[in-house]
Amino acid sequence: MPFLGVNIDHVATVRQARRTIEPDPAWAVVLAELGGADGITIHLREDRRHIQDRDVKVVLEVAQVPVNLELAAEDEITQIALETKPHKVCLVPEKREEVTTEGGLDVVGNYDRVQKCASQLMDAGIEVSLFIDPAIKQVEAAHKMGVQAVELHTGSYAEATSSREIEKELQALIKAGRVATELNLLLNMGHGLTYRNVKPVAEIEGVHEFNIGHSIIARAIMVGLEQAVREMKALVTR
Ligand code: PXP
Repeated sequence: MPFLGVNIDHVATVRQARRTIEPDPAWAVVLAELGGADGITIHLREDRRHIQDRDVKVVLEVAQVPVNLELAAEDEITQIALETKPHKVCLVPEKREEVTTEGGLDVVGNYDRVQKCASQLMDAGIEVSLFIDPAIKQVEAAHKMGVQAVELHTGSYAEATSSREIEKELQALIKAGRVATELNLLLNMGHGLTYRNVKPVAEIEGVHEFNIGHSIIARAIMVGLEQAVREMKALVTR
C-alpha cells in the first residue's frame, strides 16, 4: 500500500502571514496522523517563508510517523538536517524567487555537489531521496550515487491541460518509474498532485510514497485536516 506523506508547509504559511503563533504545524501533525497520514513532510526553505528552524524540532518531537525534510542541496541547510536527524531527507533544487519548487534537481549536472550532501546525510543514517524530473538519465545518476529513493516531479503532469499532454507526462512518469524500480530505488511521487489528478499516478506500478501538500491543506480549510487527509489516503490506496 503506498505511503502518504502529508506536506504541512502551508499551515506554517498561514501562521507566517501574520507572524503569529497560530496555526502551529504541530497541531497539523496530530490531525494528519489521525486522518491516516503515513508520514509528515516539511520543507525548510532558504528564505524561511513558511517552516522555521523551530518547527523542524517541534515536528520531529511530536510526530509518531516518519518525518521527511525537504532541503536544498546546500551545505548550510544540510547541517541543520545533520543536527536535527529527520528520518528522511529529500534533496530539492531551490531558487529564492520561485513560488514553489519549479523543476527537479539536475543530478547529472550537479553530481559532485549533490553527492557531497547526500553522502553526509546517508552516513548519518538518514534515508535520502532526490527530487528529479521523470528523465531516465536523472534516475540513473541517482542510482549511481547510491541514494535510497527518487521522488519524481509530477508538476508537468499536474500542469498539463490537453489529454494528449496529460498522457505524455503520465507516460514519462511510468517509464522513469519503471527504471527506478528496476534499479531498486524506492519510487516516490510529488508536486502539484490534487484530488482531481492523483488517481492515474496512484495506478502506476511500484509507487512507494506520495508527498502531497497544497491540495490537502486547501481542502482542509473547508473540511478539516483529518478528513482531507482521509480522502486523499483513499485516493492513493490501490
Ligand atoms: N515534493 C517536493 C519535493 C516538494 O518540493 C513539494 C512542495 O514543497 C511537494 C512534494 C508537495 O507539492 P504540493 O504542495 O504541490 O503537493
